[in-house]
Amino acid sequence: MNQLNTDFLPILGTDFVEFYAGNAKQAAYYYRTAFGFQPLAYKGLETGDKEKTSYALRQGKVTFIFTTALIPDSDIAEHCKQHGDGVKTIALWVDDARKSFDETVKRGGKPFMEPLVLSDENGEVVISGIHTYGETVHLFVERKNYQGVFLPGFVKWETGYQTREAGFKYIDHMVGNVNWGEMDKWAAFYRDVMGFSQLISFDDKDISTQYTALMSKVMANSNMRIKFPINEPAAGLNKSQIEEYIDFYRGSGVQHVALATDNIIHTVAELRNRGVEFLYVPDAYYETLPDRVGKIDENLDDIKSLNILVDRDEEGYLLQIFTRPVEDRPTVFYEIIQRKGAKSFGKGNFKALFESIEREQQRRGTL
Ligand code: FE2
Repeated sequence: MNQLNTDFLPILGTDFVEFYAGNAKQAAYYYRTAFGFQPLAYKGLETGDKEKTSYALRQGKVTFIFTTALIPDSDIAEHCKQHGDGVKTIALWVDDARKSFDETVKRGGKPFMEPLVLSDENGEVVISGIHTYGETVHLFVERKNYQGVFLPGFVKWETGYQTREAGFKYIDHMVGNVNWGEMDKWAAFYRDVMGFSQLISFDDKDISTQYTALMSKVMANSNMRIKFPINEPAAGLNKSQIEEYIDFYRGSGVQHVALATDNIIHTVAELRNRGVEFLYVPDAYYETLPDRVGKIDENLDDIKSLNILVDRDEEGYLLQIFTRPVEDRPTVFYEIIQRKGAKSFGKGNFKALFESIEREQQRRGTL
């Protein structure tokens, strides 16, 4: 069967990303204040949920949920104990959640949630789900018969505290770090179980420094709205950043979420003003930049003062920057990306970036 011609899992986009957090109230405050996410919906004690509280936030097409446990005997509490704050769910927006479940399970997907109908006075949502790497899951969310604010069970989240958006439009890609030797297995999972195809692959010759290395395969669905690079550590002289993640996350999990903006200068200036910390790239990077990427629309002084990276491919260029991990374990972080024609992932920046990460690993004593 030619899977490229028969998309058995049509995906409309990312529906939401759910984080399990030790303190969802404070996490939500950070994402509102620092990243400019807006309050969307709430579920907790006041809505009759005695075991957990969830805050849904939105900016552009990006919806994040932060969920915390109210009781110790809870999958959420256990997840936080094992992994720290991290991504539990990457929910995909589909037209038919039952078919998505059947088609993926038929191809070897491990069921996480049988199709479940959630309903309230605003209609119904069908949700199903399968497991992916580590303890991460994919939910399939069918919401064509629902008019409510977010999902049944949630109420509109009303709050007097206002923050300004920072310019995020959509999720460009989400990267999974998987354990030693598991990249091919998970790339095959996305190919065989979910019908994705491989866009690009990098090996340790592309992505290595004096000390560390990693390998990566980028898997994408047929309409390219969903892109999941999968990284695994490669042997180097020292512990790679992927290995450091695996150690602290205690297994495979989501490494970074790349958020797209159409004005990275504005977005990064806003984020810096609000206290978001970014990886540092030395001035030397900018000395060779004009030769490497040629003419770009942005002012080079702005690019340099904000420490933004630039890379060019055959189709155009892209601007990107990476935050430091946003929790105490060196695990989950964010990429801010603006594409100007380029469809690649910033390969030309890998070396500068990794050397920057290694400087931080050295400070943490984990290199
Ligand atoms: Fe990325």
